[in-house]
Amino acid sequence: MIQKQVTYERLDKLLSRLGYGSRNDVRYWLKEGWVTVQGSVPKSPSERVDVDTVEIEGAPLDHPHGLTIIYHKPLGSVCSHKESGRLVYDDFPARWKERKPAFSCVGRLDKETSGLLFLTDDGQLNHQITSPKYHVPKRYDVYLAEALRGNEAELFAKGTLMLDGDDTPCLPAELIVHDARHVEVVLQEGRYHQVRRMFAAVGNHVEGLARTHVGALSLADLALPAGGYCVIAPEQLLNAILGVK
Ligand code: URA
Repeated sequence: MIQKQVTYERLDKLLSRLGYGSRNDVRYWLKEGWVTVQGSVPKSPSERVDVDTVEIEGAPLDHPHGLTIIYHKPLGSVCSHKESGRLVYDDFPARWKERKPAFSCVGRLDKETSGLLFLTDDGQLNHQITSPKYHVPKRYDVYLAEALRGNEAELFAKGTLMLDGDDTPCLPAELIVHDARHVEVVLQEGRYHQVRRMFAAVGNHVEGLARTHVGALSLADLALPAGGYCVIAPEQLLNAILGVK
């Protein structure tokens, strides 16, 4: 039998770490009767409460046990909590940016890269997806400024390609050629601007870049529009990435 997970937490701390507002805000909301626990308004904001029994204006709390999403990152938004310009967080409820533990991107995609991205507050999941130790391949669709020279697949596969500023060569990567300027690349690791730098290292320039797959999970199968997302349990996401049915 599956047992329900019951978590107790101090009410004001809980609401502030889920991004609802400050501890002072919580005090005010209690006075106004906007927060209830098991249907009644608690006497003190410091009360320890079962997180699943709290409601704000009649609505249950927003993912109090953790939050993981699959997201279709659009072009032009930045994977950051605080940089200027359009951020990936602009596509989510504003409180998610304030959550603790932080709700962060699993690896990063550049501003000018679109595609499959995960965000989570689960540090272990983040590590399992990004660490080269777990061998989760990431697949990218790439449009190039120049026609291929012909030796790129061999160079990428060798595992000897050095990128400017790095001390170790890239791990072997696969190149799938659709035509002279349209390819796919499958990487075993996630270095800074890696696909763009790999093509720069062979005298080319990336004009269009999208991540289409992480492990066995394909963005095309999810039917998420650019900017769209869905919430998923961490174990379910890991199974989808590892191809476990
Ligand atoms: N490689 C890049 O160059 N950019 C990305 O966003 C991801 C991989």
